[in-house]
Amino acid sequence: MYVAPSILSANFGNLSSDITKVCEAGADLLHIDVMDGHFVPNLTIGPSVVKAAAKASSVPLDIHLMVKNVKFFVDLFLDIKPKFITFHIEEEKHPLRMIEYIRDHGISPGIVLNPHTPVSMLEHIIHSVDIVLLMSVNPGFGGQKFMPLVLKKISTLRDMIDKNNIKCMIEVDGGINGLNIADIEIAGADIVVAGNYIFSSNDYKTSINSLKI
Ligand code: DX5
Ligand code: ZN
Repeated sequence: MYVAPSILSANFGNLSSDITKVCEAGADLLHIDVMDGHFVPNLTIGPSVVKAAAKASSVPLDIHLMVKNVKFFVDLFLDIKPKFITFHIEEEKHPLRMIEYIRDHGISPGIVLNPHTPVSMLEHIIHSVDIVLLMSVNPGFGGQKFMPLVLKKISTLRDMIDKNNIKCMIEVDGGINGLNIADIEIAGADIVVAGNYIFSSNDYKTSINSLKI
């Protein structure tokens, strides 16, 4: 299991030090939650803070856009050259065009599904993306409770990917901790995002390791 700490729960007053610490503690990716106050009822960070985060990080960035105007935000982050840019299928009218646009800039594109959005929405998209991010909380805030309904979605998506021999990773985001990680792994996830669980612990290495099962 790969682990992507979400900096949403980091100490923003001391962000670069927190980032250095999670990287040294074994993070595989750094998960960056970008919120616009419209798609979700919260606002987070823009390109200048993400640039600083990229500088502090020794692992690739995983940018999760929770925004209405996807193209506008994608353009803000192209220069930073993250590993992944993922955006919500619920918001983008032309997801295949956006996926191609991100890939043309040398970045791996991915689609995000809210908890209520069915995996069947991916039927004609799955072949084009490198990653699918399944939300296991309603997006907008860290520290929420994992929604068990997503376990079935993970296994349905795992079957879809394996049966069609597609190269696409499954990432799960929201409410993940040392107690539910086994179920998430068994269902077939490849990457987990964890914010509160890692940053509220006083030993990042132990909490990250407990997710790497
Ligand atoms: C929620 C964000 C998550 C969040 C996860 O909208 O997409 O990445 O930071 O945080 P925890 O692990 O605290 O649920
Ligand atoms: Zn996220």
